[in-house]
Amino acid sequence: MKPFYLTTAIDYVNGSPHIGHAYEKVLADVIARTRRMQGQDVYFLTGTDEHGQKIQQGARAKGVPTQQFVDEISAEFVQLTKLLNLSNNDFIRTTEPRHKQVVADCLQRLFDQGEIYRAEYQGFYSPRQEQFLQEKERLPDGSWPEIFGEVIAITESNYFFKLRSYQQWLIDHITANEDFVFPAHRRKSLLEFLSEPLNDLCISRPKDRLEWGIPLPFDANYVTYVWFDALLNYYSAVKDLGRWPADFNIIGKDILIPAHGIYWPIMLHALGLPPPKALLVHGWWSVNGAKMSKSTGNFVDPVTFCQQWNVDSLRYFLIREMVVGQDADFSQEQFLVRYNSELANSLGNLVNRTLNMTTRFAAGVVPAAGVAEEPELELQALWAKTRDECMTLVEGLQFHTAIERTMQFVTATNAYIERRAPWKLAKDVSPEGGILLQTALATMSEALRLGSALLWPVMPGAVDKIRGGLAQPPLAKWDGELEWGGRLAGAQLGAVDILFPKPPAPEKKA
Ligand code: ME8
Ligand code: MG
Repeated sequence: MKPFYLTTAIDYVNGSPHIGHAYEKVLADVIARTRRMQGQDVYFLTGTDEHGQKIQQGARAKGVPTQQFVDEISAEFVQLTKLLNLSNNDFIRTTEPRHKQVVADCLQRLFDQGEIYRAEYQGFYSPRQEQFLQEKERLPDGSWPEIFGEVIAITESNYFFKLRSYQQWLIDHITANEDFVFPAHRRKSLLEFLSEPLNDLCISRPKDRLEWGIPLPFDANYVTYVWFDALLNYYSAVKDLGRWPADFNIIGKDILIPAHGIYWPIMLHALGLPPPKALLVHGWWSVNGAKMSKSTGNFVDPVTFCQQWNVDSLRYFLIREMVVGQDADFSQEQFLVRYNSELANSLGNLVNRTLNMTTRFAAGVVPAAGVAEEPELELQALWAKTRDECMTLVEGLQFHTAIERTMQFVTATNAYIERRAPWKLAKDVSPEGGILLQTALATMSEALRLGSALLWPVMPGAVDKIRGGLAQPPLAKWDGELEWGGRLAGAQLGAVDILFPKPPAPEKKA
């Protein structure tokens, strides 16, 4: 069976990674890990986008050679994959020879097939967006939208890819494949955009204007337009591994139209390759209610954040807080609410109580459950329901709800402990009291083992530590791990470092 192949957008190396970059990569990792838990063979690709005007300008502004500039920033993104505990199988950089070769080969093929032609272009150009503009993009007052920055009039000869001749094919493809774009409203906007005629795509930039790109194989006076180069990373990285097409290309909402929704499937189709099976389009993070920006000081740096808290808490918050496909807001206050109530007081508390009580009342060895009365049966029934619902939810990418349900099970387990009150049972010297104490200790350990297993894709590090405390090996697959049973009986529990330490109290305002 072909492995499940998923990709993230490749990040521009004109600035350090921010929380939006981190989210996309964590989302992809959660999907990759979930599928591996389900027994699928998964191939997960991420990387960096290193050509184009923005990068060339960034290097010049810093006064360093462009290659050095991209090497330094790309290294930060590689570091981030480690810090975020990503399980990516490969990291591609568009400046690598393996990628440049594939881009050149694809361009030559399209040129030979007559899909690329040369023409004179006269019109307006936005250096900031690296994009030729059309009259219809002007605002009603005749000016250009601010996102284009300074707009210049140019006349130059360039190479064009026959995008328009594939417009009807693309409309038919999207119409026939409901799953091609997730969520559905983005698919609708894409089809709406396609109801207007497309222009052919300018795929070259004269070298005297832009040096930092892949030379056109058929005309050395030009380099390749950055999107044409960047999109091909998904293919160049796996071309020789037989993994194309991708099952998911995961991207942010700003790069669906036109890049991933139009250029990309048409490029592939013209090359005789199938389009990706699905484009998974996520929303954007604002920070404290505003667009993230370094100048206004509301830029969240994932490296600092992980150092201050820990990677599992960050991963948890990102996936718990954002509904896949919608926007969300990042604030320290909201992070603290989730951290305190869900991680420290609920899950962390369950871990501590389970280990402490087993140590105090059973010398650290999990007893066998003696009975199953109403409290146990209720918790077991809730487990079965939670597990089955979560499997359906993750299939539909509803990770935030799957986490919510799992945390309800953790809360119910804490409530179970209150109800059974092992500290009282420990004082009860009757045989019944002893059996109930054993049952309570066995039940809380088993519930912790099961509940934490569902959280593994989101917090693999923390969950494997919990499992270590329960004398269980790191989790490899869900198969056989999600049924309520008695496998922990006899296990000698170990210590677990505090996973979610209480944050320092906020400073009181005088
Ligand atoms: O677009 N919240 O690179 P990029 C969530 N190189 N996601 C965000 C975000 C935010 N605030 N800001 C950015 C590029 N992103 C191209 C991609 S793919 C062949 C080439 C997401 O560094 C953004 O939507 O500007 C995109 O998916 C990714 O981060 C990289 O953005
Ligand atoms: Mg961007």
